[in-house]
Amino acid sequence: MKTVITYGTFDLYHTGHQRLLERARKLGDKLIVGVTSDLYDQSRGKLNVQQSLEERIENVRRSGLADVIIVENEEGQKIEDIQRYDVDVFAIGSDWIGKFDYIKEYCDVVYLERTKGVSSTDIRKKLLPIIRVGIVGCGRITGRFVNESKFVSGLDVIAVYGRDKKKASEFATKYEISGAYSDYGHMLSTVDAVYIAVSHHVHYEFAKKALLQGKHVLCEKPLTLTQEQATELYQLATEHGCVLMEAIKTAYAPGFCQLLGIVKGGVIGNVLAVDAAFTKIITDKTLREYDAAQAGGALTELGTYPLLAITKLLGTQPLNVSFFSIKNEEYQVDTFTRAHFTYKGANAIATVGIEAKREGDLCITGSKGYIYVPAPWWKTEYFEVRFENSERNRKYFTKFEEDGLRYEIAAFIKRINGNEPSQHHLSPEESIFIAGIIEQFRNQA
Ligand code: CTP
Repeated sequence: MKTVITYGTFDLYHTGHQRLLERARKLGDKLIVGVTSDLYDQSRGKLNVQQSLEERIENVRRSGLADVIIVENEEGQKIEDIQRYDVDVFAIGSDWIGKFDYIKEYCDVVYLERTKGVSSTDIRKKLLPIIRVGIVGCGRITGRFVNESKFVSGLDVIAVYGRDKKKASEFATKYEISGAYSDYGHMLSTVDAVYIAVSHHVHYEFAKKALLQGKHVLCEKPLTLTQEQATELYQLATEHGCVLMEAIKTAYAPGFCQLLGIVKGGVIGNVLAVDAAFTKIITDKTLREYDAAQAGGALTELGTYPLLAITKLLGTQPLNVSFFSIKNEEYQVDTFTRAHFTYKGANAIATVGIEAKREGDLCITGSKGYIYVPAPWWKTEYFEVRFENSERNRKYFTKFEEDGLRYEIAAFIKRINGNEPSQHHLSPEESIFIAGIIEQFRNQA
């Protein structure tokens, strides 16, 4: 009995898949097909898959060519599978030539000629409308957005808005964007969606204008500086049939989502405390962080990440919130702030600083154990679940590719296309709550 194994995503099943399985089947007596899990695809940066794992398994089952279908959950699993199933031949398409030579130590490796002219990527492009995106602002993060958007199917950045036309044009040239505008209304008329990355204090007006014109909005954090404004924007989005998302990348990152799943599954017991920190020492006083008129300061700049962790883990109903803060009197901005939250049976502290340094970590204290995520926890790539009996400790690793904006961009496009109706990564209620905390702090400060 000769056993053959092959792997793939098998999204939007096509003739290339069918031909590959037929030929792989002929290499032996039994064919095992490994279908990649959603989490594995996400973690290796393949963010455009349209069908769920169940649908993709069904695609392979219906081909009638697989004797056994398994799920590929993580990198490194192949060698384990090959040994476990006593595999004789590993077969894969020729797009992978050379990449799996290391498997030759365990079984034969056969690269099968890839069928020309067909791929899931091409089918997705034809199937999905391309969302035309305009970028609002030409600042630090917008370039990263353009680069990261290239990893997601279904959008095209076609316009950039800047108050200063010359800057917008320079940005457009640098990032090969066709339209540069200093008239926001004009830019809006050319796009389906906007990514807003201007100073915090003007997020509200730019987002409102876009929503009123029926444009989808992905807005940098903090969405707004008051709870009322955030509530109004989400209402406007509903009324105009638009997607509104606050661009908190951590909320969409695979590692952070896995961490939340582990906590919600009760592995560390009841959550008793959350401590989350994000500090930077920013010496350049000409930056927005030191400009009170642009709503600078540590909490508005960096607070969203720790507030996200606290909100996701303990909810939006604290009994009490108070702040300890140090202000730079010359610039009138907070340079170090700790927000203390009291919940029923739990407590949390968010620590941020622009003139302070400590480990940017996240620690979740539970009644049975704790989770520790070292800096930079907001780019969750690695975390540990630890117990009194350290033999039970477990380490978790997930990829967080480069700047990580691709995860929120993929979620935004999926929501626009109606492929992700749920807003579980970050609900309007959670986003509005975070705006409310920032407002409360600014009122007291
Ligand atoms: N395959 C093939 N011929 C094609 C497309 C895919 O032989 N035209 C093979 C791949 O080499 C792989 C298997 O089919 O061995 C599963 O590939 P998968 O990545 O699921 O398909 P793609 O169409 O390449 O998907 P994508 O465009 O998302 O990369």
